[in-house]
Amino acid sequence: MSASIEQILEETRHFLPSPEFSAKARVSSMEQYREMYEESINSPETFWAREASDLSWQQPWDSVLEWNVPNAEWFKGAKVNISENCLDRHLTNGRKDKVAIHWEGECGEKIALTYADLHREVCKFANVLTAQGVKAGDPVLLYLPMVPEAVISMLACARIGALHSVVFGGFSVDAIVDRLEDCGAKYVITADGGFRRGKAISLKDNVDAALERYPDVKCSFIVQRTESEVTMVEGRDVWWHELMADASAEHTPEGFDSEHPLFILYTSGSTGKPKGVLHTTGGYMIGTYTTCKYIFDMRDDDVYWCTADVGWITGHSYICYGPLLNGVTQVMYEGAPNYPDFGRFWKMVEDYKVSIFYTAPTAIRAFIKAGDDLPNAHDLSSLRLLGTVGEPINPEAWMWYHKVIGGERCPIVDTWWQTETGAIMISPLPGATPTMPGTATLPFFGVDAAILDEEGNECPPNAGGKLVVRKPWPSMLRGIYKNPERFQTAYWDDYPGIYTVGDGARKDDEGNTWIVGRLDDVLNVSGHRLGTAEIESALVAHDNIAEAAVVGKPHEIKGEAVVAFVVLKSPVNDEEYTHTLRKHVATLIGALARPDDLYIVTALPKTRSGKIMRRLLKELVSTGDITGNITTLEDPTVVEELKALVQV
Ligand code: WT7
Repeated sequence: MSASIEQILEETRHFLPSPEFSAKARVSSMEQYREMYEESINSPETFWAREASDLSWQQPWDSVLEWNVPNAEWFKGAKVNISENCLDRHLTNGRKDKVAIHWEGECGEKIALTYADLHREVCKFANVLTAQGVKAGDPVLLYLPMVPEAVISMLACARIGALHSVVFGGFSVDAIVDRLEDCGAKYVITADGGFRRGKAISLKDNVDAALERYPDVKCSFIVQRTESEVTMVEGRDVWWHELMADASAEHTPEGFDSEHPLFILYTSGSTGKPKGVLHTTGGYMIGTYTTCKYIFDMRDDDVYWCTADVGWITGHSYICYGPLLNGVTQVMYEGAPNYPDFGRFWKMVEDYKVSIFYTAPTAIRAFIKAGDDLPNAHDLSSLRLLGTVGEPINPEAWMWYHKVIGGERCPIVDTWWQTETGAIMISPLPGATPTMPGTATLPFFGVDAAILDEEGNECPPNAGGKLVVRKPWPSMLRGIYKNPERFQTAYWDDYPGIYTVGDGARKDDEGNTWIVGRLDDVLNVSGHRLGTAEIESALVAHDNIAEAAVVGKPHEIKGEAVVAFVVLKSPVNDEEYTHTLRKHVATLIGALARPDDLYIVTALPKTRSGKIMRRLLKELVSTGDITGNITTLEDPTVVEELKALVQV
């Protein structure tokens, strides 16, 4: 009883930025935030033109925004190169010899790349890509570990106008094939392998298996990282280091249209295959640049560290583009947070004197479990600002982050956004916004976020509804790659002219937005969206599985755990069989999607029209009971079998 009362008290507690922090911040009061926010909403053209003028454009725009629902064009008529803005611009503004990336391998190797070094490597690789036939507009699939070559590849693609499509290195063969088929890439950049918890994980083997099923790839560039044995396919596979050795470091960045496609990144949806979210150049550049400038308040003397993988949107916007556009020094780490133990991150914060640290609630929960001794053993006094992203942060985790990592001195920016939004949308501004554990607080500049009921009316304070964005913003997605219908139905059909996010939320009396979670069947495992449909398809792809249903259940560390129910074609008398089936999912999609629990059942709960009633399964795995309405069930007797099977 008393614990829940305490928790409620904590949630109403406000944390104000310290006067010292505010005094130095770009936005230092709520008054200033409101003034700027109003301008960004009422005169977006003026606001964004001013921000855009911080960066280099090879040719100016004719108009800041053309909006024909659902298609936005930002900075139309302008010519721009985002790689030039991330790199070349800093060669003449005093940052040439400043470290851009402090990279650390899992085994402790260190590489420091200055802006001049990074520029040279990107120019060379841009020349390599061009020499192998890659042209502007070509999609290139990247499947890489967290090595500098990942960022170099992305910037080199962008430099020549090719679209990168990064596939998370933890995904497996099927995921690569799906994405190759969907985007039609003819070029792949991968590595022999990567290190994870001290083990060399092969990446090239997965790519090789994928290319057997998708033979259209002309050239596969192989980074040498683990030096494990690989088979090079004559006429297709080329070593990165061999081509780079002879490549010229001279490269003039061509100006592309502001709306030239920059990248595709696949993300899960509740139905069907993952969606190829498309981002373009000029608007995305301004979105990532300004959010780093105002939300992380990046300064020349900052050392910034975002712990995400480049395979997710966070790695795109807040490792590759945003920090480099701001000319900051950042840390990039190859491996696992618990290698050799959960003190690794805190040791690195101390070693590099990290001042801005951006991670996910799932990681914070794992650190809490590992105990305070590990962070307490390190000097974390260099930290001045903390951030989180990926899912709602529970107040206990927020308080721990605040006290144990932030020393009660660092503001926390809880940043809400999505693959589709390209950049942070709802977040405190660290020198201005009073924060509260569990809310991402207020919209960023230009973001007209609202909560609507089914009829499209704005919900009153504290009433839950659907989170939407009513105005276009610079870094918004420009479509689903080659699939305009899906773009329309997934985001624009609920309310005319309004972007539907897919999250449930409410606003409190002060206007703070509290995210309740996803509205569809999509799971959020360790801060990553996983489609139930994709995991179910993987299960059904097994020879002996007839049907499958997947739901999430609350999990202390991961946020949600994957629970699968399967109907077998023929019974198997083997205690290890569920293990085999779980492993099958890991092999097909990746370890992240491996079901934590798997139940073999004789039938799934379905409606008369044949729809699986996942909400009943969800209730069962979280509470151990089914109390919800079962009147639409085709066969109510399955409920008893399920209840007997699942013990919580
Ligand atoms: C979904 C987007 C943005 C990069 C990581 C995930 C959830 C994200 C928060 C937050 C509450 C959050 C939402 C969103 N989410 N950040 N600060 N508070 N929920 O990107 O895979 O595109 O997933 O993650 O449900 O819609 P993504």
